[in-house]
Amino acid sequence: MTIAPETVGELREIAARYPQSRSALLPMLHLLQSSEGFVTAEAIEVCADVLDISAAEVSGVATFYTMYKRRPVGDYHVGVCTNTLCAVMGGDLIFERLKDHLGVGNDETTDDGKVTLEHIECNAACDYAPVMTVNWEFFDNQTPESAVALVDDLAAGNVVTATRGARVCTWREAERVLAGFPDDRADDGPAAGPASLAGLKLARERNWRAPEPSSESTTGDAIAADQAAKSSRTESDVAVAASPADTADSAGPKSDSNSDGKAPDAGGTH
Ligand code: FES
Repeated sequence: MTIAPETVGELREIAARYPQSRSALLPMLHLLQSSEGFVTAEAIEVCADVLDISAAEVSGVATFYTMYKRRPVGDYHVGVCTNTLCAVMGGDLIFERLKDHLGVGNDETTDDGKVTLEHIECNAACDYAPVMTVNWEFFDNQTPESAVALVDDLAAGNVVTATRGARVCTWREAERVLAGFPDDRADDGPAAGPASLAGLKLARERNWRAPEPSSESTTGDAIAADQAAKSSRTESDVAVAASPADTADSAGPKSDSNSDGKAPDAGGTH
């Protein structure tokens, strides 16, 4: 085993944070990305061992989420949002310019191991489109020129600070934070900018407030009654859904059903 005993100890520490230990899988994978550089085959095995689940279950999670990588990532993961709004505001142009400038394609790393480029989906930062991320820190209102300057700074080892966040660390350091081991950067930089707060400012100026909840929906009795009604509906839905199969079983062999499990049409057109 090449995974250090200290890392395995921290994996167990993460697992102990949750009432259901398998809930710890996501931060555990982040920790292994920090220590190993990506989700290795051994990382999958050790997660399965610590959580007492199968390697297939771990692998299913690790291959579902795009933040988990199955091959080494550069010191700086550079994301370019090419979702609809960012794309029309210049995200597509930025991505093309960076591919040319760095000499890599999507999800590829420069030869010096500094930068991995990836097009990413909407980061819920559309008010600052087009948006880029570096190790998941935001860089707002980018242009092809500012994007090139940004990756050049990263490659040169210059100190780079996010538009609404902290100074940029390495990808491995950022992965450790995502695993739940904070560093000293949490309070660096602003958390929200004027565009995100415009609605709040307007509401305060005009004294707009959310409607008060009605008394009916807030009493414990009302909530309990609502839950009971939902539960009753669910049970009756199950009963209805189960009835065709019951009928089929009692009426004859399963070969009377179609291959998709439905009963044959009354008109016998199949
Ligand atoms: S479309 Fe880019 S952040 Fe939403």
